[in-house]
Amino acid sequence: MKVVCTEKSQILAVRIADQLGVQAVETRFARFPDGELYLQVAGPLDDETVIVGSVTDNDAFIQLMLLIDACEATTNTLVVPYLGYARQDKKFKDGEPVSARVAARALSRGVSDVITVNIHEKEIARYFDAVAHDLSLAVDIGDYLKGQGFADPLILAPDSGAADFATEIASEGCWQADYLKKTRISGEEVRMEPKNFDVKGREVVIVDDIISTGGTLATATKMLYDQGAAGVHAACVHGVFTGGAYVRLRAAGVKSLVCSDTIERACSAFTAANRIAEALKKC
Ligand code: R5P
Repeated sequence: MKVVCTEKSQILAVRIADQLGVQAVETRFARFPDGELYLQVAGPLDDETVIVGSVTDNDAFIQLMLLIDACEATTNTLVVPYLGYARQDKKFKDGEPVSARVAARALSRGVSDVITVNIHEKEIARYFDAVAHDLSLAVDIGDYLKGQGFADPLILAPDSGAADFATEIASEGCWQADYLKKTRISGEEVRMEPKNFDVKGREVVIVDDIISTGGTLATATKMLYDQGAAGVHAACVHGVFTGGAYVRLRAAGVKSLVCSDTIERACSAFTAANRIAEALKKC
């Protein structure tokens, strides 16, 4: 087995290869003069290839499709740690595409299995024309938080969709978990129903699958400080951090903000490599 990856998933890919005790094969990336993407896998591949690439933006999406095509002579397992477009998982308005379905179908050609990580909505997995496995980093986030030494933290999901995720994380440290009720007003703005928590003098850790604009977290943070929280922290799987969200959230009083390496960031504090390597051994 060998591992190949797109440009933006290099660190995670090498971690996965190390966990599996196999080689990560170099790929050369370039652009044609008109901006089109080019790549060439630089080494020979085995019969079994693991292709690792998060869909962090449109270029990463195209690069991943090119890489799958370049590996098409072998048995390919695709690892998409972060699947961009997953949040448009239904037609919210007439005339809209189901973008998650488009992405899943486009990435299914030439692969036998697909591994995703906290895919946002489990139903999306059925759009892959391949055997799909979705992994959760809840235990890994719980382990990370245990190492932070918070005394009696509240683990809080910003919406009901993340409530089970928060409960799973909290169970790692026998902590309390709860969730907020969120209504999205626009891409960047959300409304939250005030909920009375017992947060006076307590540390609160908000957990979510994705932090994108940070609108969700900023609104929750304000509400928690208004209710007397001693500190608000945040941990997510996919740190998208669109449009300066990291700085915005730190300025809003979020004391620490971490994510996994499904999107490689300076604040990637825990890795998805172990879970992915475990799953690959079972594929
Ligand atoms: C939505 O359902 C997701 O789980 C996240 O809560 C959302 O993507 C966060 O987005 P933002 O950071 O832009 O508020």
